[in-house]
Amino acid sequence: MSRLIVVSNRVAPTQPGRPAAGGLAIGVLDALQETGGVWFGWSGEITGEAASQTRSPVIERQGNVTYATVGLSRRDYDQYYRGFSNATLWPTFHYRNDLSRYDRQEYAGYLRVNAMLAKQLKTLLEPDDIIWVHDYHLLPFARCLRELGVKNPIGFFLHIPFPVPEVLRTVPPHEELVRAMCSYDVVGFQTEADCQSFVDYVERGSCHGSVDEAGVLYAWGQFLKVAAYPIGIYPDAIARVAQQFTARKPVRSLREGMHGRKLIMSVDRLDYSKGLVERFQAFERLLLGAPDWHGRVSLVQIAPPTRSDVQTYQRIRQNLEGEAGRINGRFAQLDWTPIQYLNRKYERNLLMALFRQAHVGYVTPLRDGMNLVAKEYVAAQNPEDPGVLVLSQFAGAAEQMPGALVVNPFDLSQMAEALERALSMPLAERQARYTDMMARLRENNLSVWRDTFLGDLRRVARASAVARNVVRRVDATAYGRQGSALGSRY
Ligand code: G6P
Repeated sequence: MSRLIVVSNRVAPTQPGRPAAGGLAIGVLDALQETGGVWFGWSGEITGEAASQTRSPVIERQGNVTYATVGLSRRDYDQYYRGFSNATLWPTFHYRNDLSRYDRQEYAGYLRVNAMLAKQLKTLLEPDDIIWVHDYHLLPFARCLRELGVKNPIGFFLHIPFPVPEVLRTVPPHEELVRAMCSYDVVGFQTEADCQSFVDYVERGSCHGSVDEAGVLYAWGQFLKVAAYPIGIYPDAIARVAQQFTARKPVRSLREGMHGRKLIMSVDRLDYSKGLVERFQAFERLLLGAPDWHGRVSLVQIAPPTRSDVQTYQRIRQNLEGEAGRINGRFAQLDWTPIQYLNRKYERNLLMALFRQAHVGYVTPLRDGMNLVAKEYVAAQNPEDPGVLVLSQFAGAAEQMPGALVVNPFDLSQMAEALERALSMPLAERQARYTDMMARLRENNLSVWRDTFLGDLRRVARASAVARNVVRRVDATAYGRQGSALGSRY
């Protein structure tokens, strides 16, 4: 059986119990631990320039997962990670092109690091390995591998949104990036809408690409499969740990500290895409409009800082501290603080138990690929007395969780109303919504995500060997007829 090689910029911490950073690390680790395989990426360390010239992957085995990691030099980190990935692609892909900036040197660094990582990975590859690459740091990775002569099937999954063409075009090398993405055999997105944005770009762009009903896309002389593969979780495992960890000290302290008040809870990386300021302001609006809730409800926001060396992240942190202070100053009583704002990380199992204590899961990003917190919050609930999820319509999770109270995070009044409705919702309605969402979470769990993606990748890889022979004979202008014939094979 072929080995699975997972490639991502961020590799999950190898020490069990360490807090995981972001949905990618959580999803991939859970998915990989079941099948086993190799996880290749950045170690998280910055090495000297000299060391980075001679680096080769550090190999560490844990259970059935082999971690292969490399360090980045300061220049690589600044240009590839802090620069083009997180100051250009991240804001633009989250529709914040107002916060995005472009620097040619950083883009050159992004391409250079992709090529360097591909070279490192190549030394570890065996002929029948299947390669699964993750996220926006690695859009051109397959092209780099192909340039090195790698023939293995290579799939790509984007964990964050893919913007509509008009927004994407604000990134100067947009066409080069999309063209490079077409070197993958399968490109997967979180939602149908993201996938459609990619298809729209390719169909309307200068390459005059096209896609058939089976999701087989033809562009720049390449065939690939494109589709939505919404990432899931293991809801029953989460339900179990949420219950097991309920007796832990921090969970008990939270419960006792509430003195019977209702608890609204949010957990996010401290990121401007998460809508934290708007969320605080909507909570303020609830307190303004409904004085009977004063002293009877608190919002706990856990927001560990990330990417704090990127300027936009420093600004959001300052804003948020200002807003929390202002709102607390306005409403707090001697024995009640409306917003508890914590800039720290918690171990994941403990977080699940904290979710179980919350009457409302308040998940309102301005834009999000999926948002696993929304799914985890529901899974962690006590079926006898479940809380209510208030969810942004701009999180990928909203496509799959109609049992949530879905809100527009730009509409503060609507969010305040949803909070009030959630806080007062009768048990029978809460249970009905919970039961519906749990059924969907089970049906589309994390193995479904992984197995559907890898199933498609294996199929496409088999077919593309045949396709390559066909393509050689196909005149691109005659694609319409040939392309559909090919599509039926996938
Ligand atoms: C999001 C991204 C991931 C990233 C994570 C944490 O979930 O999709 O690719 O790893 O955030 O961000 P960081 O920059 O710390 O890796």
